Amino acid sequence: MLQASDIRVSLAGAPVLNGAAFAAEAGQITAIVGPNGSGKTTLLRAMTQDLPYDGTITLDRDDIARVPAWKLATRRAVLPQASRIAFPFTVLEIVRLGLTAQGDAPETRASDALARVGLAGFEGRFFQELSGGEQQRAQLARVLVQVWEPVGPDGPRWLFLDEPVASLDIGHQLEVMDLMADYAARGGGVVAVMHDLNLTAIYSASVAMLLAGRVVAQGAPAEVLTDATLSRAYGCDLRVNAAPPPPATFLLPHMARRAG
Ligand SMILES: Nc1ncnc2c1ncn2[C@@H]1O[C@H](COP(=O)(O)OP(=O)(O)OP(=O)(O)O)[C@@H](O)[C@H]1O
Ligand SMILES: [Mg+2]
Repeated sequence: MLQASDIRVSLAGAPVLNGAAFAAEAGQITAIVGPNGSGKTTLLRAMTQDLPYDGTITLDRDDIARVPAWKLATRRAVLPQASRIAFPFTVLEIVRLGLTAQGDAPETRASDALARVGLAGFEGRFFQELSGGEQQRAQLARVLVQVWEPVGPDGPRWLFLDEPVASLDIGHQLEVMDLMADYAARGGGVVAVMHDLNLTAIYSASVAMLLAGRVVAQGAPAEVLTDATLSRAYGCDLRVNAAPPPPATFLLPHMARRAG
C-alpha cells in the first residue's frame, strides 16, 4: 500500500501542495484527477522522490525517504508528464534505459515491452522521429521493463504514470488502460494522473480529486465523480450519466471494466 499524509511542497517560494493526503492499494488502478495546476504532477513527483516535501510517504510500510534510490528503482517506475530526449537515441536504447534496475533481464525484454505497447518493429527507429503518441508509448515501454513482474521480493511493484494516455488515440488509450489494468490484476500497484474522466470512471477503483494543492475527495469513482464535485473542481457545469439532448453525437468506449 502507498500512503501519503500531510504532504506539503513549495516551489519557487510558493506553496503548491498544502497538506495533501493520498492512498493507493496494489491490485487496482488509483487515479489522480483535478484541474490544470492543482498539483497532480507535484504530488506524483513527491511520491517518487523527485522533489523535496514535508510529510510522510510510505510504500508498503517503508518510509520512502529512507529507502535508497537504487532500491526504490527496483520497486517502482515512473512515467513523467513530459520527457525531452536531447540526443539521437534509438527506441531500443530508450527502452533499455529501464533495464538498469533489473540486472538479469533477458535480452528480449525490451522488444517484449515494445510489442506490449503496440510498437513491435520500432527498435531501430530514432526516438525523436516518432510521433507524439508513439514517443509516449515508447516511454511507457521503458517504464514497463523496469518493473516487468508486478510482484517482486519486496512485495508489489508500482507504476507511477503522469497522464499515460494524454496524447493517444482512443484505440491506443484503451490498449494502455488495459495494460495498466492487467498489471494491477497480476498484483502490481498503478497510480495514474488522468484528465479523461470517462476512462478514469471505467478503469479505476479509487479516484483522488486534487484542488488547489489538497485532495478534496478520494474514493470509488461513483463517490468522487459527482455533479457537485466535478462542477466545483473544473468550474463548469458537468453532469454524470446524462446524455446530451438529440441530435448531439457523443461516444464512449463501450466495454466492461476488465479488472480492478
Ligand atoms: N518547477 C516549478 N516552479 C514553480 N512553480 C511550479 C513548478 N512546477 C509546478 N509549479 C506550479 O505548481 C502548481 C502545480 O503544478 P503541477 O504541475 O503539479 O500541476 P498539475 O495538476 O499537474 O497540472 P496539469 O494538469 O496542467 O499537468 C502550478 O501552479 C505550477 O505553476
Ligand atoms: Mg501535470
